[in-house]
Amino acid sequence: MVSRTIFCLSAFLVLSVLATSASSEEELSPYYYNQVCPQALPAIKRVVEAAVYNESRMGASLLRLHFHDCFVNGCDASILLDPTSTIDSEKNALPNSNSIRGFEVIDQVKLEVDKVCGLSVVSCADIVAVAARDSVVALGGPTWEVQLGRKDSTTASRDKANSDLPSPFMDLPALINNFKTQGLDERDLVALSGGHTIGLAQCFTFRNRIYNETNIDPEFGDQRKSSCPLSGGDSNRSPLDPTPAHFDGAYFDSLVKKRGLLSSDQALFNGGSTDGLVQAYSSDAKAFGADFAESMVKMGNIKILTGEQGQVRLNCRKPN
Ligand code: HEM
Ligand SMILES: *[C@@H]1O[C@H](CO)[C@@H](O)[C@H](O)[C@H]1NC(C)=O
Ligand SMILES: *[C@@H]1O[C@H](CO)[C@@H](O)[C@H](O)[C@H]1NC(C)=O
Repeated sequence: MVSRTIFCLSAFLVLSVLATSASSEEELSPYYYNQVCPQALPAIKRVVEAAVYNESRMGASLLRLHFHDCFVNGCDASILLDPTSTIDSEKNALPNSNSIRGFEVIDQVKLEVDKVCGLSVVSCADIVAVAARDSVVALGGPTWEVQLGRKDSTTASRDKANSDLPSPFMDLPALINNFKTQGLDERDLVALSGGHTIGLAQCFTFRNRIYNETNIDPEFGDQRKSSCPLSGGDSNRSPLDPTPAHFDGAYFDSLVKKRGLLSSDQALFNGGSTDGLVQAYSSDAKAFGADFAESMVKMGNIKILTGEQGQVRLNCRKPN
C-alpha cells in the first residue's frame, strides 16, 4: 500500500516534470538560436537592410508579410507556401493577390542564413518575424527583442486568409472584433494600425473613401483623386501617410486631420472609443513606438507552432 502510494507519487512527479518541460518548450525565447547559430540574426539584418536600402517600400512590404502570416492560422509562415495540387496558397486570397510582396527577400534571407549556420535550423516563420522588426528599425522605427522558436506549417488556407484578414472597408466595431478574435485588444488595434506609417495602398482600396465619405479633409481627398479616378486606375498607388518611407508618428497626425487614406484608418478617429489613443499617439511618437513594439511581440505569438509541432522548412515556399 505504502509502496504503491510512493509509486503513484513518483509517477505523478515524473509526469509533472514532463508536462513542465513540454509546456516550457512552447515558450518562445529571444535567445533560441544563440547556441545553435549565433550568426543567424546578424545575417537576417544584413539582407533586410540591403533590400530596404535598395527600395524603401520593401520595409513596409516585409512588415505587412508578418501581419498577414500571423492573422491566418498563426505565425507559421503559411503565407510563404506556393500553390500546388495540395496547397491552396494564401498568396491567391483577395487581400494578398497582386498586393502582398517580399517573398524574394525572404528566399534570399533563408539562403544566407542557412549558409552562415551551415544547416537549416532557422524557421521561415522566425525569419519573417525578424525581417519585420529589422524593416521597422531600418526605416527609423522602434526596436524590440523578437521572440523566437516558431516552427513552420505544412499547410496553408486561402479560405482563412479571405475570412480572417481585416478589410479596409471595416468600421471600428468590425475592426475591434476582428482583432479580438486574434487575442488582440483595442490598444493593439490602434498601435498596430500605425504600421500604416509606412508603405502604399492601391486606388481600389480607398476609392469609396475619397469619393463617398464625409469625414475626410476635402483638400486631401482632391489630392488623392488626382491619382485615383472614379473609374480605372485601380492599382494606382498612394502613400498611406505623408512620409511612407519613415516609421514616424505622421500616420496618427493624419488621422486627427481627417487625412486617413483607408476607411479602416479613419475609423480609428471618428468619434469612437479609440479617438483618445489616436490623439495621444499623434502628439507622442515615443509612446506609439513603445506600444507598437509591445503589440508586435503580442502579434508574433498568435497560434505559434513549437517543439515537435510543424517543421523547419528547407525551402520557405514548400513543405519538406
Ligand atoms: C487594422 C486593419 C488593417 C487593414 C484593414 C489593412 C489594410 C491594408 C490595405 C488595404 C493595404 C494596401 C494594400 C494594397 O493596396 O495592395 C495595406 C497596406 C499595408 N499594411 Fe495594412 N491593414 C491593417 C492593419 C495592418 C497592420 C496591423 C500592419 C502591420 C503591423 C499593416 C501593415 C501594412 C503595411 C506596411 C502596408 C504597406 C505595404 C506595402 O507598401 O507593400 N497593416 N493594409
Ligand atoms: C531593387 O529594387 C528594384 C525596385 O525598386 C527591384 O526591381 C530590384 O530587383 C531590386 N534589386 C535588388 C538587388 O534587390
Ligand atoms: C458610393 O456609394 C454608392 C452607394 O453605396 C456606391 O454605389 C458607389 O459605388 C460608391 N462610389 C464609389 C466611388 O465607391
